[in-house]
Amino acid sequence: MFDAAVFEGEEQLVTGERRSAAWFGATGRAGMIYRSWMRNQGFGSEVFDGRPVIGVAVSVSELAPCNAHLDRVAEAVRRGVWQAGGFPLVFPTMATGETLMRPTAMLYRNLMAMEVEELVRANPLDGVVMLSGCDKTTPAMVMAAASVDVPAVLVTGGPMLTGKYRGQDVGSGTHVWKFEEELKAGRMSQEECFFAEGCMARSNGHCMTMGTASTMACVTEALGMQLPGSASWPAVDARRFETAQAAGQRIVAMVEEGLRPSQVLTREAFENAIRVNAAIGGSTNAIIHLLAIAGRVGVELSLDDFDVLARAVPTLVNVMPSGRFLMEDFCYAGGVPVVMRDLVEHDLLHGSALTVTGKSVADNVAGAENWNPEVITPLGAPFQPAGSGTAVLRGNLAPGGAVLKQSAATPALLTHTGPALVFDTVEDYHAVADDPGLEVTADTVLVIRGAGPKGYPGMPEVANVALPAKLLKAGVRDMVRICDGRMSGTGYGTVVLHVTPESALGGPLALVHTGDRITLDVPHRSLTLHVDDAELDQRRQHWQPPENPYTSGYTWLYTQHVQQADTGADFDFLHGTRGHTIPRDSH
Ligand code: FES
Ligand code: MG
Repeated sequence: MFDAAVFEGEEQLVTGERRSAAWFGATGRAGMIYRSWMRNQGFGSEVFDGRPVIGVAVSVSELAPCNAHLDRVAEAVRRGVWQAGGFPLVFPTMATGETLMRPTAMLYRNLMAMEVEELVRANPLDGVVMLSGCDKTTPAMVMAAASVDVPAVLVTGGPMLTGKYRGQDVGSGTHVWKFEEELKAGRMSQEECFFAEGCMARSNGHCMTMGTASTMACVTEALGMQLPGSASWPAVDARRFETAQAAGQRIVAMVEEGLRPSQVLTREAFENAIRVNAAIGGSTNAIIHLLAIAGRVGVELSLDDFDVLARAVPTLVNVMPSGRFLMEDFCYAGGVPVVMRDLVEHDLLHGSALTVTGKSVADNVAGAENWNPEVITPLGAPFQPAGSGTAVLRGNLAPGGAVLKQSAATPALLTHTGPALVFDTVEDYHAVADDPGLEVTADTVLVIRGAGPKGYPGMPEVANVALPAKLLKAGVRDMVRICDGRMSGTGYGTVVLHVTPESALGGPLALVHTGDRITLDVPHRSLTLHVDDAELDQRRQHWQPPENPYTSGYTWLYTQHVQQADTGADFDFLHGTRGHTIPRDSH
Protein backbone atom coordinates (compact mmCIF):
# COMPACT_ATOMS: atom_id res chain seq x y z
CA MET A 1 0.00 0.00 0.00
CA PHE A 2 0.99 3.64 -0.32
CA ASP A 3 2.71 4.94 2.78
CA ALA A 4 -0.25 6.00 4.90
CA ALA A 5 1.90 8.44 6.84
CA VAL A 6 1.94 10.68 3.78
CA PHE A 7 -1.79 11.11 4.04
CA GLU A 8 -2.77 13.01 7.11
CA GLY A 9 -6.44 13.36 6.45
CA GLU A 10 -8.95 12.56 3.82
CA GLU A 11 -9.25 16.23 2.81
CA GLN A 12 -5.58 16.72 2.24
CA LEU A 13 -4.16 16.83 -1.22
CA VAL A 14 -1.04 14.81 -1.65
CA THR A 15 1.84 16.61 -3.21
CA GLY A 16 4.07 13.59 -3.76
CA GLU A 17 5.51 13.00 -7.21
CA ARG A 18 3.12 10.25 -8.11
CA ARG A 19 -0.31 11.62 -8.87
CA SER A 20 -2.16 8.37 -8.30
CA ALA A 21 -1.16 8.40 -4.65
CA ALA A 22 -3.59 11.28 -4.09
CA TRP A 23 -6.39 8.89 -4.94
CA PHE A 24 -5.42 5.33 -4.26
CA GLY A 25 -3.13 6.06 -1.33
CA ALA A 26 -5.70 8.09 0.54
CA THR A 27 -7.05 6.91 3.88
CA GLY A 28 -10.52 7.46 5.29
CA ARG A 29 -13.67 8.00 3.32
CA ALA A 30 -12.11 9.42 0.15
CA GLY A 31 -9.60 6.59 -0.22
CA MET A 32 -12.37 4.08 0.30
CA ILE A 33 -14.39 5.64 -2.49
CA TYR A 34 -11.45 5.77 -4.89
CA ARG A 35 -10.46 2.14 -4.34
CA SER A 36 -13.73 0.40 -3.63
CA TRP A 37 -15.39 1.22 -6.93
CA MET A 38 -12.30 0.20 -8.86
CA ARG A 39 -12.55 -3.19 -7.20
CA ASN A 40 -15.90 -3.76 -8.88
CA GLN A 41 -13.79 -4.55 -11.96
CA GLY A 42 -12.16 -7.43 -10.12
CA PHE A 43 -8.84 -5.75 -9.33
CA GLY A 44 -7.26 -7.11 -6.14
CA SER A 45 -6.02 -4.70 -3.48
CA GLU A 46 -2.41 -5.20 -4.62
CA VAL A 47 -2.94 -2.79 -7.53
CA PHE A 48 -3.06 0.01 -4.96
CA ASP A 49 0.44 -0.71 -3.66
CA GLY A 50 1.86 2.48 -5.14
CA ARG A 51 2.74 1.15 -8.58
CA PRO A 52 2.50 3.62 -11.51
CA VAL A 53 -1.05 3.98 -12.75
CA ILE A 54 -1.06 4.25 -16.52
CA GLY A 55 -3.95 5.55 -18.57
CA VAL A 56 -4.41 4.03 -21.99
CA ALA A 57 -6.29 6.66 -24.00
CA VAL A 58 -8.00 4.87 -26.87
CA SER A 59 -9.67 6.75 -29.70
CA VAL A 60 -11.48 3.62 -30.89
CA SER A 61 -14.72 4.00 -32.79
CA GLU A 62 -16.60 2.29 -35.56
CA LEU A 63 -17.39 5.80 -36.73
CA ALA A 64 -13.66 6.39 -37.25
CA PRO A 65 -12.83 3.33 -39.36
CA CYS A 66 -9.09 4.04 -39.30
CA ASN A 67 -9.23 3.63 -35.50
CA ALA A 68 -11.69 0.74 -35.28
CA HIS A 69 -9.05 -1.82 -34.24
CA LEU A 70 -7.45 0.28 -31.51
CA ASP A 71 -9.15 -1.74 -28.78
CA ARG A 72 -6.91 -4.64 -29.81
CA VAL A 73 -3.86 -2.41 -29.83
CA ALA A 74 -4.89 -1.30 -26.32
CA GLU A 75 -4.82 -4.94 -25.18
CA ALA A 76 -1.17 -5.14 -26.17
CA VAL A 77 -0.38 -1.90 -24.34
CA ARG A 78 -2.19 -3.15 -21.27
CA ARG A 79 -0.14 -6.33 -21.34
CA GLY A 80 3.07 -4.32 -21.48
CA VAL A 81 2.06 -2.13 -18.54
CA TRP A 82 1.29 -5.17 -16.36
CA GLN A 83 4.56 -6.80 -17.39
CA ALA A 84 6.51 -3.76 -16.27
CA GLY A 85 4.75 -3.56 -12.93
CA GLY A 86 2.28 -0.80 -13.69
CA PHE A 87 -1.49 -0.68 -13.30
CA PRO A 88 -3.11 0.01 -16.72
CA LEU A 89 -6.50 1.65 -16.99
CA VAL A 90 -7.99 1.86 -20.46
CA PHE A 91 -10.37 4.70 -21.26
CA PRO A 92 -12.10 5.75 -24.47
CA THR A 93 -11.68 9.16 -26.01
CA MET A 94 -13.38 10.96 -28.78
CA ALA A 95 -12.40 9.74 -32.24
CA THR A 96 -12.37 12.18 -35.11
CA GLY A 97 -12.66 10.13 -38.28
CA GLU A 98 -11.89 11.89 -41.56
CA THR A 99 -14.30 10.04 -43.74
CA LEU A 100 -17.66 10.36 -42.03
CA MET A 101 -17.53 13.51 -39.91
CA ARG A 102 -19.16 16.59 -41.32
CA PRO A 103 -18.45 19.37 -41.93
CA THR A 104 -14.87 18.21 -41.28
CA ALA A 105 -12.99 16.25 -38.63
CA MET A 106 -10.75 19.30 -38.23
CA LEU A 107 -13.62 21.12 -36.54
CA TYR A 108 -13.23 18.62 -33.69
CA ARG A 109 -9.45 18.26 -33.33
CA ASN A 110 -9.30 20.92 -30.64
CA LEU A 111 -12.30 19.44 -28.84
CA MET A 112 -10.66 16.03 -28.78
CA ALA A 113 -7.40 17.53 -27.53
CA MET A 114 -9.29 19.33 -24.79
CA GLU A 115 -11.18 16.19 -23.82
CA VAL A 116 -8.05 14.05 -23.53
CA GLU A 117 -6.16 16.73 -21.60
CA GLU A 118 -8.99 17.07 -19.08
CA LEU A 119 -9.49 13.31 -18.72
CA VAL A 120 -5.84 12.78 -17.89
CA ARG A 121 -5.73 15.63 -15.40
CA ALA A 122 -8.97 14.68 -13.67
CA ASN A 123 -7.99 11.08 -13.08
CA PRO A 124 -5.42 9.21 -10.97
CA LEU A 125 -2.97 8.79 -13.81
CA ASP A 126 0.82 8.95 -13.54
CA GLY A 127 1.43 8.45 -17.23
CA VAL A 128 -0.50 7.81 -20.39
CA VAL A 129 -0.21 5.80 -23.58
CA MET A 130 -2.22 7.42 -26.34
CA LEU A 131 -3.66 5.42 -29.21
CA SER A 132 -4.57 7.22 -32.39
CA GLY A 133 -4.77 6.62 -36.11
CA CYS A 134 -6.83 8.79 -38.39
CA ASP A 135 -5.46 12.22 -39.28
CA LYS A 136 -6.67 14.51 -36.50
CA THR A 137 -6.55 11.95 -33.72
CA THR A 138 -2.75 11.92 -33.58
CA PRO A 139 -2.20 15.68 -33.25
CA ALA A 140 -5.12 15.90 -30.82
CA MET A 141 -3.45 13.34 -28.56
CA VAL A 142 -0.06 15.04 -28.71
CA MET A 143 -1.61 18.47 -28.08
CA ALA A 144 -3.28 17.00 -25.00
CA ALA A 145 -0.06 15.36 -23.83
CA ALA A 146 1.78 18.64 -24.26
CA SER A 147 -0.75 20.63 -22.26
CA VAL A 148 -1.09 18.19 -19.36
CA ASP A 149 2.58 17.19 -19.43
CA VAL A 150 2.48 13.83 -17.67
CA PRO A 151 4.80 11.13 -19.09
CA ALA A 152 3.23 10.11 -22.41
CA VAL A 153 3.93 7.78 -25.31
CA LEU A 154 1.98 7.70 -28.51
CA VAL A 155 1.13 4.53 -30.40
CA THR A 156 -0.52 4.99 -33.76
CA GLY A 157 -2.71 2.23 -35.14
CA GLY A 158 -0.75 1.70 -38.33
CA PRO A 159 -1.65 1.91 -42.00
CA MET A 160 -3.92 -0.43 -43.95
CA LEU A 161 -2.37 -3.05 -46.21
CA THR A 162 -1.63 -1.95 -49.76
CA GLY A 163 -4.78 -1.63 -51.85
CA LYS A 164 -4.94 -4.07 -54.76
CA TYR A 165 -7.20 -3.29 -57.69
CA ARG A 166 -7.12 -5.30 -60.91
CA GLY A 167 -3.49 -6.17 -60.51
CA GLN A 168 -2.26 -2.72 -59.53
CA ASP A 169 -1.41 -1.13 -56.18
CA VAL A 170 -3.88 1.53 -55.21
CA GLY A 171 -3.54 4.08 -52.44
CA SER A 172 -6.39 5.17 -50.18
CA GLY A 173 -7.32 8.76 -50.82
CA THR A 174 -4.92 9.30 -53.69
CA HIS A 175 -6.81 6.85 -55.89
CA VAL A 176 -10.14 8.32 -54.84
CA TRP A 177 -9.11 11.52 -56.61
CA LYS A 178 -7.79 9.55 -59.57
CA PHE A 179 -10.93 7.44 -59.87
CA GLU A 180 -13.07 10.56 -59.57
CA GLU A 181 -11.21 12.09 -62.49
CA GLU A 182 -11.61 8.90 -64.51
CA LEU A 183 -15.32 8.84 -63.70
CA LYS A 184 -15.75 12.50 -64.67
CA ALA A 185 -13.77 12.02 -67.86
CA GLY A 186 -16.05 9.09 -68.73
CA ARG A 187 -13.28 6.49 -68.62
CA MET A 188 -14.60 4.62 -65.58
CA SER A 189 -18.17 3.57 -64.76
CA GLN A 190 -19.90 4.00 -61.42
CA GLU A 191 -20.08 0.17 -61.12
CA GLU A 192 -16.33 -0.04 -61.56
CA CYS A 193 -15.90 2.59 -58.84
CA PHE A 194 -18.07 0.56 -56.43
CA PHE A 195 -15.79 -2.40 -57.07
CA ALA A 196 -12.63 -0.35 -56.64
CA GLU A 197 -13.82 0.98 -53.25
CA GLY A 198 -13.51 -2.46 -51.70
CA CYS A 199 -10.09 -3.06 -53.22
CA MET A 200 -8.73 0.13 -51.72
CA ALA A 201 -9.54 -0.62 -48.09
CA ARG A 202 -8.89 -4.27 -47.39
CA SER A 203 -7.68 -4.32 -43.79
CA ASN A 204 -7.86 -2.36 -40.59
CA GLY A 205 -5.72 0.74 -40.40
CA HIS A 206 -5.44 4.32 -41.55
CA CYS A 207 -4.67 5.53 -45.07
CA MET A 208 -1.62 3.70 -46.42
CA THR A 209 -0.52 6.58 -48.59
CA MET A 210 1.67 9.30 -47.09
CA GLY A 211 -1.51 11.16 -46.22
CA THR A 212 -1.97 13.06 -43.03
CA ALA A 213 -2.36 9.98 -40.81
CA SER A 214 0.85 8.32 -42.00
CA THR A 215 2.58 11.69 -42.01
CA MET A 216 1.56 12.47 -38.43
CA ALA A 217 2.59 8.97 -37.36
CA CYS A 218 6.05 9.52 -38.90
CA VAL A 219 6.29 13.08 -37.64
CA THR A 220 5.45 12.12 -34.06
CA GLU A 221 8.13 9.44 -34.29
CA ALA A 222 10.49 12.17 -35.47
CA LEU A 223 9.41 14.38 -32.57
CA GLY A 224 10.45 11.57 -30.25
CA MET A 225 6.95 10.86 -28.96
CA GLN A 226 6.62 7.35 -30.48
CA LEU A 227 8.99 4.41 -30.17
CA PRO A 228 11.40 4.06 -33.12
CA GLY A 229 9.80 2.19 -36.01
CA SER A 230 6.37 2.53 -34.50
CA ALA A 231 4.85 4.66 -37.25
CA SER A 232 4.90 2.27 -40.15
CA TRP A 233 4.00 -1.26 -39.02
CA PRO A 234 0.79 -2.12 -40.86
CA ALA A 235 -2.25 -2.16 -38.58
CA VAL A 236 -2.57 -5.92 -38.91
CA ASP A 237 1.12 -6.77 -38.60
CA ALA A 238 1.97 -8.67 -35.42
CA ARG A 239 4.81 -6.24 -34.81
CA ARG A 240 2.31 -3.40 -34.46
CA PHE A 241 1.13 -5.21 -31.33
CA GLU A 242 4.68 -5.93 -30.19
CA THR A 243 5.43 -2.21 -30.49
CA ALA A 244 2.29 -1.40 -28.51
CA GLN A 245 3.34 -3.84 -25.81
CA ALA A 246 6.80 -2.26 -25.71
CA ALA A 247 5.17 1.17 -25.32
CA GLY A 248 3.22 -0.20 -22.35
CA GLN A 249 6.45 -1.37 -20.77
CA ARG A 250 8.28 1.81 -21.56
CA ILE A 251 5.70 4.18 -20.06
CA VAL A 252 6.11 2.56 -16.65
CA ALA A 253 9.83 3.30 -16.78
CA MET A 254 9.13 6.83 -17.99
CA VAL A 255 7.01 7.45 -14.91
CA GLU A 256 9.87 6.23 -12.72
CA GLU A 257 12.27 8.50 -14.62
CA GLY A 258 9.88 11.45 -14.64
CA LEU A 259 10.37 11.86 -18.40
CA ARG A 260 7.67 14.25 -19.58
CA PRO A 261 6.57 15.62 -22.99
CA SER A 262 8.01 19.05 -22.17
CA GLN A 263 11.47 17.44 -22.15
CA VAL A 264 10.89 15.78 -25.50
CA LEU A 265 8.98 18.50 -27.36
CA THR A 266 11.82 20.99 -27.68
CA ARG A 267 12.63 23.35 -30.51
CA GLU A 268 15.17 20.75 -31.72
CA ALA A 269 12.48 18.09 -31.82
CA PHE A 270 10.23 20.31 -33.95
CA GLU A 271 13.09 21.07 -36.31
CA ASN A 272 13.66 17.33 -36.64
CA ALA A 273 9.97 16.78 -37.32
CA ILE A 274 9.91 19.47 -40.01
CA ARG A 275 12.89 17.93 -41.77
CA VAL A 276 11.53 14.41 -41.55
CA ASN A 277 8.25 15.71 -42.93
CA ALA A 278 10.15 17.07 -45.91
CA ALA A 279 12.09 13.84 -46.39
CA ILE A 280 8.97 11.67 -46.39
CA GLY A 281 7.05 13.97 -48.74
CA GLY A 282 4.60 14.48 -45.90
CA SER A 283 1.22 16.13 -45.76
CA THR A 284 0.73 19.89 -45.71
CA ASN A 285 -1.55 19.30 -42.73
CA ALA A 286 1.49 18.44 -40.63
CA ILE A 287 2.35 22.13 -40.74
CA ILE A 288 -0.86 23.15 -39.02
CA HIS A 289 -0.67 20.34 -36.48
CA LEU A 290 2.98 20.94 -35.59
CA LEU A 291 2.31 24.65 -35.14
CA ALA A 292 -0.56 23.80 -32.83
CA ILE A 293 1.54 21.35 -30.79
CA ALA A 294 4.38 23.88 -30.54
CA GLY A 295 1.86 26.43 -29.28
CA ARG A 296 0.95 24.05 -26.48
CA VAL A 297 4.53 23.72 -25.21
CA GLY A 298 5.55 27.31 -25.82
CA VAL A 299 8.14 26.48 -28.48
CA GLU A 300 8.56 29.36 -30.92
CA LEU A 301 7.76 27.95 -34.32
CA SER A 302 6.65 29.90 -37.38
CA LEU A 303 5.28 29.04 -40.76
CA ASP A 304 8.51 30.23 -42.33
CA ASP A 305 10.49 27.68 -40.32
CA PHE A 306 8.86 25.01 -42.46
CA ASP A 307 10.14 26.53 -45.68
CA VAL A 308 13.60 27.43 -44.39
CA LEU A 309 14.29 24.11 -42.64
CA ALA A 310 12.82 21.94 -45.38
CA ARG A 311 14.75 23.59 -48.21
CA ALA A 312 17.90 21.64 -47.42
CA VAL A 313 16.08 18.31 -47.40
CA PRO A 314 15.38 16.22 -50.49
CA THR A 315 12.32 14.01 -50.66
CA LEU A 316 13.67 10.55 -49.90
CA VAL A 317 10.54 8.48 -49.55
CA ASN A 318 8.91 7.40 -52.78
CA VAL A 319 5.37 6.92 -51.48
CA MET A 320 2.06 8.21 -52.85
CA PRO A 321 0.87 10.90 -53.33
CA SER A 322 4.33 12.24 -54.23
CA GLY A 323 5.71 8.87 -55.31
CA ARG A 324 4.51 5.44 -56.32
CA PHE A 325 4.89 3.06 -53.35
CA LEU A 326 2.77 2.70 -50.24
CA MET A 327 3.27 2.57 -46.47
CA GLU A 328 3.62 -1.20 -46.42
CA ASP A 329 6.61 -0.88 -48.75
CA PHE A 330 7.99 1.93 -46.59
CA CYS A 331 7.70 -0.28 -43.53
CA TYR A 332 9.49 -3.23 -45.13
CA ALA A 333 12.22 -0.86 -46.35
CA GLY A 334 12.94 0.08 -42.73
CA GLY A 335 10.57 2.97 -42.03
CA VAL A 336 11.29 6.25 -40.27
CA PRO A 337 14.52 5.15 -38.52
CA VAL A 338 16.20 4.71 -41.92
CA VAL A 339 15.20 8.21 -42.99
CA MET A 340 16.32 9.68 -39.68
CA ARG A 341 19.63 7.85 -39.71
CA ASP A 342 20.43 9.24 -43.16
CA LEU A 343 19.47 12.75 -42.07
CA VAL A 344 21.50 12.47 -38.85
CA GLU A 345 24.54 11.30 -40.80
CA HIS A 346 24.24 14.35 -43.06
CA ASP A 347 23.85 16.75 -40.13
CA LEU A 348 20.29 17.50 -41.08
CA LEU A 349 18.83 16.43 -37.72
CA HIS A 350 19.56 17.19 -34.11
CA GLY A 351 20.88 13.77 -33.19
CA SER A 352 21.07 14.67 -29.52
CA ALA A 353 17.34 15.35 -29.14
CA LEU A 354 15.82 13.30 -26.32
CA THR A 355 13.01 10.86 -27.09
CA VAL A 356 10.53 8.74 -25.15
CA THR A 357 13.02 5.87 -25.20
CA GLY A 358 15.10 7.95 -22.78
CA LYS A 359 17.78 7.93 -25.46
CA SER A 360 18.72 10.38 -28.17
CA VAL A 361 17.52 10.33 -31.76
CA ALA A 362 21.02 9.36 -32.92
CA ASP A 363 21.12 6.40 -30.52
CA ASN A 364 17.65 5.26 -31.51
CA VAL A 365 18.38 5.10 -35.23
CA ALA A 366 22.06 4.14 -35.25
CA GLY A 367 21.47 0.58 -36.41
CA ALA A 368 18.73 1.27 -38.96
CA GLU A 369 19.24 -0.50 -42.28
CA ASN A 370 17.68 0.35 -45.60
CA TRP A 371 16.22 -2.80 -47.16
CA ASN A 372 14.87 -1.12 -50.27
CA PRO A 373 16.62 1.98 -51.64
CA GLU A 374 13.94 2.30 -54.32
CA VAL A 375 11.36 3.08 -51.64
CA ILE A 376 13.63 5.00 -49.28
CA THR A 377 16.09 6.62 -51.61
CA PRO A 378 19.45 7.59 -50.15
CA LEU A 379 20.27 11.25 -49.57
CA GLY A 380 23.03 11.03 -52.15
CA ALA A 381 20.55 10.00 -54.88
CA PRO A 382 17.17 11.24 -53.70
CA PHE A 383 13.80 10.58 -55.24
CA GLN A 384 13.25 14.34 -55.52
CA PRO A 385 15.90 17.07 -55.05
CA ALA A 386 16.24 19.34 -52.04
CA GLY A 387 13.85 22.25 -52.12
CA SER A 388 11.02 20.25 -53.68
CA GLY A 389 9.03 20.08 -50.47
CA THR A 390 6.30 22.32 -49.20
CA ALA A 391 6.83 25.98 -50.01
CA VAL A 392 5.53 28.84 -47.90
CA LEU A 393 4.20 31.62 -50.12
CA ARG A 394 3.55 35.24 -49.30
CA GLY A 395 2.34 38.25 -51.22
CA ASN A 396 -0.58 40.64 -51.36
CA LEU A 397 -2.97 37.71 -51.70
CA ALA A 398 -1.63 35.93 -48.61
CA PRO A 399 0.05 38.38 -46.24
CA GLY A 400 -0.11 35.81 -43.43
CA GLY A 401 1.22 33.06 -45.67
CA ALA A 402 -0.01 30.14 -47.73
CA VAL A 403 1.51 26.77 -48.55
CA LEU A 404 1.97 24.63 -51.63
CA LYS A 405 3.24 21.05 -51.77
CA GLN A 406 5.68 21.11 -54.68
CA SER A 407 6.24 17.37 -54.80
CA ALA A 408 2.52 16.86 -55.47
CA ALA A 409 2.25 19.69 -58.00
CA THR A 410 2.91 19.97 -61.75
CA PRO A 411 6.37 21.54 -62.24
CA ALA A 412 5.25 23.64 -65.22
CA LEU A 413 2.54 25.29 -63.14
CA LEU A 414 4.82 26.37 -60.31
CA THR A 415 5.31 29.62 -62.17
CA HIS A 416 2.01 30.66 -63.64
CA THR A 417 -0.09 33.74 -64.34
CA GLY A 418 -3.74 33.45 -65.21
CA PRO A 419 -7.17 34.97 -64.77
CA ALA A 420 -9.09 34.18 -61.59
CA LEU A 421 -12.37 32.31 -61.61
CA VAL A 422 -13.79 32.95 -58.15
CA PHE A 423 -16.23 30.95 -56.05
CA ASP A 424 -17.43 32.08 -52.63
CA THR A 425 -18.05 28.53 -51.50
CA VAL A 426 -16.91 25.13 -52.64
CA GLU A 427 -20.57 24.25 -53.23
CA ASP A 428 -20.82 27.15 -55.69
CA TYR A 429 -17.97 25.60 -57.64
CA HIS A 430 -19.38 22.07 -57.58
CA ALA A 431 -22.71 23.39 -58.87
CA VAL A 432 -21.08 24.45 -62.14
CA ALA A 433 -17.98 22.25 -62.34
CA ASP A 434 -19.56 19.86 -64.83
CA ASP A 435 -21.17 22.59 -66.95
CA PRO A 436 -19.79 22.32 -70.50
CA GLY A 437 -20.39 26.06 -70.92
CA LEU A 438 -18.21 27.06 -67.93
CA GLU A 439 -15.80 29.78 -68.99
CA VAL A 440 -12.58 28.17 -67.98
CA THR A 441 -9.31 27.20 -69.64
CA ALA A 442 -6.24 25.36 -68.45
CA ASP A 443 -4.73 28.79 -67.66
CA THR A 444 -7.53 29.80 -65.33
CA VAL A 445 -6.71 30.11 -61.62
CA LEU A 446 -9.57 28.64 -59.61
CA VAL A 447 -10.15 30.59 -56.41
CA ILE A 448 -12.24 28.81 -53.78
CA ARG A 449 -12.90 30.83 -50.65
CA GLY A 450 -15.01 30.47 -47.53
CA ALA A 451 -13.08 27.37 -46.47
CA GLY A 452 -10.95 28.81 -43.66
CA PRO A 453 -11.02 27.83 -40.00
CA LYS A 454 -13.72 30.35 -39.08
CA GLY A 455 -15.54 30.60 -42.35
CA TYR A 456 -16.47 27.03 -43.14
CA PRO A 457 -16.13 26.48 -40.13
CA GLY A 458 -13.37 23.98 -39.44
CA MET A 459 -11.07 24.43 -42.44
CA PRO A 460 -12.08 21.37 -44.47
CA GLU A 461 -10.02 19.43 -47.00
CA VAL A 462 -11.78 20.83 -50.04
CA ALA A 463 -9.02 22.81 -51.73
CA ASN A 464 -8.04 20.20 -54.31
CA VAL A 465 -11.39 20.31 -56.09
CA ALA A 466 -11.62 18.13 -59.18
CA LEU A 467 -10.97 20.06 -62.36
CA PRO A 468 -13.96 21.21 -64.39
CA ALA A 469 -15.30 18.26 -66.40
CA LYS A 470 -14.78 20.22 -69.60
CA LEU A 471 -11.03 20.39 -68.98
CA LEU A 472 -10.76 16.79 -67.79
CA LYS A 473 -12.43 15.61 -70.98
CA ALA A 474 -9.94 17.67 -72.95
CA GLY A 475 -7.11 15.83 -71.21
CA VAL A 476 -6.10 18.57 -68.75
CA ARG A 477 -4.90 16.95 -65.50
CA ASP A 478 -3.90 19.90 -63.34
CA MET A 479 -4.53 23.60 -62.93
CA VAL A 480 -3.72 26.21 -60.29
CA ARG A 481 -6.21 26.31 -57.46
CA ILE A 482 -6.10 28.74 -54.52
CA CYS A 483 -8.05 28.23 -51.31
CA ASP A 484 -8.14 29.21 -47.64
CA GLY A 485 -8.97 25.62 -46.77
CA ARG A 486 -6.83 22.50 -46.60
CA MET A 487 -6.12 19.56 -48.87
CA SER A 488 -6.13 15.94 -47.84
CA GLY A 489 -2.62 14.67 -47.28
CA THR A 490 -3.42 12.08 -49.93
CA GLY A 491 -4.27 14.78 -52.46
CA TYR A 492 -2.14 16.21 -55.23
CA GLY A 493 -2.17 19.02 -57.74
CA THR A 494 -0.93 22.59 -57.97
CA VAL A 495 -2.99 23.81 -55.07
CA VAL A 496 -2.24 26.84 -52.92
CA LEU A 497 -3.56 26.07 -49.45
CA HIS A 498 -4.15 27.68 -46.05
CA VAL A 499 -4.32 31.23 -47.45
CA THR A 500 -4.09 33.51 -44.42
CA PRO A 501 -5.90 35.60 -43.35
CA GLU A 502 -8.91 33.65 -44.53
CA SER A 503 -11.64 35.23 -46.61
CA ALA A 504 -14.22 35.16 -43.79
CA LEU A 505 -11.99 37.58 -41.89
CA GLY A 506 -11.74 39.88 -44.88
CA GLY A 507 -8.32 38.67 -46.01
CA PRO A 508 -7.34 39.74 -49.53
CA LEU A 509 -8.72 36.45 -50.86
CA ALA A 510 -12.16 37.92 -50.12
CA LEU A 511 -11.48 40.80 -52.49
CA VAL A 512 -10.56 38.88 -55.64
CA HIS A 513 -12.90 39.29 -58.62
CA THR A 514 -13.30 36.87 -61.48
CA GLY A 515 -11.00 38.06 -64.25
CA ASP A 516 -8.31 39.53 -61.94
CA ARG A 517 -4.89 38.24 -62.83
CA ILE A 518 -2.97 36.21 -60.30
CA THR A 519 0.66 35.15 -60.40
CA LEU A 520 1.93 32.10 -58.61
CA ASP A 521 5.72 32.13 -58.41
CA VAL A 522 6.86 29.25 -56.25
CA PRO A 523 10.60 29.70 -56.90
CA HIS A 524 10.27 33.22 -55.48
CA ARG A 525 7.73 32.06 -52.90
CA SER A 526 5.18 34.63 -53.93
CA LEU A 527 1.47 34.82 -54.62
CA THR A 528 0.41 38.07 -56.23
CA LEU A 529 -2.95 39.55 -57.08
CA HIS A 530 -2.45 42.10 -59.86
CA VAL A 531 -4.85 44.67 -58.49
CA ASP A 532 -3.47 47.91 -57.10
CA ASP A 533 -3.79 48.91 -53.46
CA ALA A 534 -6.22 51.75 -54.15
CA GLU A 535 -8.61 49.39 -55.92
CA LEU A 536 -8.22 46.80 -53.15
CA ASP A 537 -9.01 49.46 -50.53
CA GLN A 538 -12.09 50.39 -52.50
CA ARG A 539 -13.22 46.78 -52.59
CA ARG A 540 -12.45 46.35 -48.90
CA GLN A 541 -14.80 49.19 -48.03
CA HIS A 542 -17.64 47.41 -49.76
CA TRP A 543 -16.84 44.04 -48.27
CA GLN A 544 -19.35 42.57 -45.84
CA PRO A 545 -18.27 39.80 -43.46
CA PRO A 546 -20.34 36.65 -43.93
CA GLU A 547 -22.92 36.13 -41.24
CA ASN A 548 -21.99 33.56 -38.57
CA PRO A 549 -25.06 31.32 -38.37
CA TYR A 550 -23.82 29.71 -35.15
CA THR A 551 -25.10 31.40 -32.02
CA SER A 552 -24.68 28.56 -29.53
CA GLY A 553 -23.11 25.17 -29.04
CA TYR A 554 -19.66 23.89 -29.80
CA THR A 555 -19.50 25.30 -33.32
CA TRP A 556 -20.21 28.76 -31.92
CA LEU A 557 -17.38 28.30 -29.40
CA TYR A 558 -15.14 27.18 -32.25
CA THR A 559 -15.86 30.23 -34.41
CA GLN A 560 -15.25 32.53 -31.44
CA HIS A 561 -11.88 31.09 -30.47
CA VAL A 562 -10.21 29.39 -33.42
CA GLN A 563 -6.96 30.94 -34.58
CA GLN A 564 -5.69 31.16 -38.15
CA ALA A 565 -3.81 28.43 -39.99
CA ASP A 566 -0.45 30.18 -39.67
CA THR A 567 -0.44 29.47 -35.93
CA GLY A 568 -2.03 26.04 -36.03
CA ALA A 569 -5.78 26.75 -35.88
CA ASP A 570 -5.87 25.98 -32.17
CA PHE A 571 -8.22 27.74 -29.76
CA ASP A 572 -6.74 30.88 -28.24
CA PHE A 573 -7.60 29.62 -24.76
CA LEU A 574 -5.88 26.27 -25.25
CA HIS A 575 -2.41 27.63 -25.99
CA GLY A 576 0.19 26.63 -23.47
CA THR A 577 0.81 23.95 -20.88
CA ARG A 578 -1.57 23.76 -17.95
CA GLY A 579 0.25 20.94 -16.22
CA HIS A 580 -1.03 18.15 -14.05
CA THR A 581 -1.61 19.65 -10.65
CA ILE A 582 -3.88 17.33 -8.72
CA PRO A 583 -7.37 18.80 -8.61
CA ARG A 584 -9.32 19.30 -5.39
CA ASP A 585 -11.06 16.31 -3.87
CA SER A 586 -14.44 15.30 -5.21
CA HIS A 587 -16.15 14.15 -2.04
FE1 FES B 1 -8.43 8.08 -41.72
FE2 FES B 1 -7.22 8.61 -44.15
S1 FES B 1 -9.29 8.58 -43.63
S2 FES B 1 -6.37 8.18 -42.25
MG1 MG C 1 -7.47 13.77 -44.40
